[in-house]
Amino acid sequence: MTRPLSTRTQNIAASLTVAIDTLAKQMIAEGKDVVSLGAGEPDFPTPEPIQEAACKAIHDGKTRYTAPVGILEVRKAVCEKLEHDNDLHFTPEQIVMTSGAKHAVFNALAVLINPGDEVIIPAPYWVTYPELVKWLGGTPVFVQGSRENDFKITAEQLRSACTEKTKAILVNNPCNPTGSVYSRDELESLAKVIVEKDIYCISDEVYEYFVYNGKFMSAAALDGMAERTIVINGFSKSHCMTGWRIGYDAAPLPIAKVIGKIQGQATHHPSNVAQYAALGALQMGMHSVNRMRDTFKKRRDYMIERTSKILKTPAKTPEGAFYLFAPVNDFYGKKTPSGEVITGSIDLCRYLLEQEGLAIVPGAAFGDDSCVRFSYAASDETLQKACDRFESGLKLLCST
Ligand SMILES: Cc1ncc(COP(=O)(O)O)c(C=O)c1O
Repeated sequence: MTRPLSTRTQNIAASLTVAIDTLAKQMIAEGKDVVSLGAGEPDFPTPEPIQEAACKAIHDGKTRYTAPVGILEVRKAVCEKLEHDNDLHFTPEQIVMTSGAKHAVFNALAVLINPGDEVIIPAPYWVTYPELVKWLGGTPVFVQGSRENDFKITAEQLRSACTEKTKAILVNNPCNPTGSVYSRDELESLAKVIVEKDIYCISDEVYEYFVYNGKFMSAAALDGMAERTIVINGFSKSHCMTGWRIGYDAAPLPIAKVIGKIQGQATHHPSNVAQYAALGALQMGMHSVNRMRDTFKKRRDYMIERTSKILKTPAKTPEGAFYLFAPVNDFYGKKTPSGEVITGSIDLCRYLLEQEGLAIVPGAAFGDDSCVRFSYAASDETLQKACDRFESGLKLLCST
């Protein structure tokens, strides 16, 4: 076949996080001893009330097509959650249930982007954002959050990144990979620029329940933001439902209507059973989520304590999500025992995987080559082993 594939697809990079996870799984399948902190996935099972809701849905015959935007009962429950937790006032017509939050991000970008439109992405960023923007014909514009500002961007930075072509900003709060959380004041100052520049905001809030100090604030709740913000959320992280593939867009009505149209043609709707499972999640209360947050906080503290003894430049303490973004550039230029020079985060992660059987993700995947990302959504024993291997691998590196 000589006819070329779509040029848009040729610009898309494969996800480095998925690549590391796949390689680690392959090594494990070959019988190698690998500790993986690569995947952003809670290590707990899906809570029982959710499993029961799904089983009941199957037994009740909820196995046929639903409306493209999802089941009304579920969308009503999402509205109640948004009202109760986030002080956001949505009607069910503004909610579109999706096949995971990733799909909800895709939907939001698909509705907004025209070829050549610029989308501002604060860096470090979740790997998927720039690739989806490029795929849809847009241009990602990266604004670097400095380490000194806890990897967050400022209103001044945002203002100077805006051009005539800017269509939207993608805010991920709390952030994967840095664990940074924007305070109300910081969000307010960003929101002022967003309103002044008359751009849209896509607010990815999948880690909202994993904030370790203070309360999470949705960007959509600020003055002038409701009519220009698409809220993205899902159940993968908060309710240990990564494989169920269920999330949602909550958007201004005209946008929600178009998202429904796109989805109706592309996937029709997320699994009927997964929607009932999500309803179970929304109705079960916060006990297991709160318990998980407390566990993650202890693990975060452990990771900070261990890595601060290993690294020359200590990592910032993450305020949310379940990732540690650790600076490792002090080790660049050093040689591995086999004589290879570590030139950046990809080299370092490959070396740690091959030498120590430790899978972590290079910061380059997230737009910051000076760091590596650990996911601490893993057991205490796994974290201890991971830190031991990290320490041992770095000790073996010698100056050139
Ligand atoms: C910031 C962010 N948004 C969205 C997602 C995707 O979540 P889902 O499994 O619901 O598609 C992830 C998963 O890693 C994420 O880190």
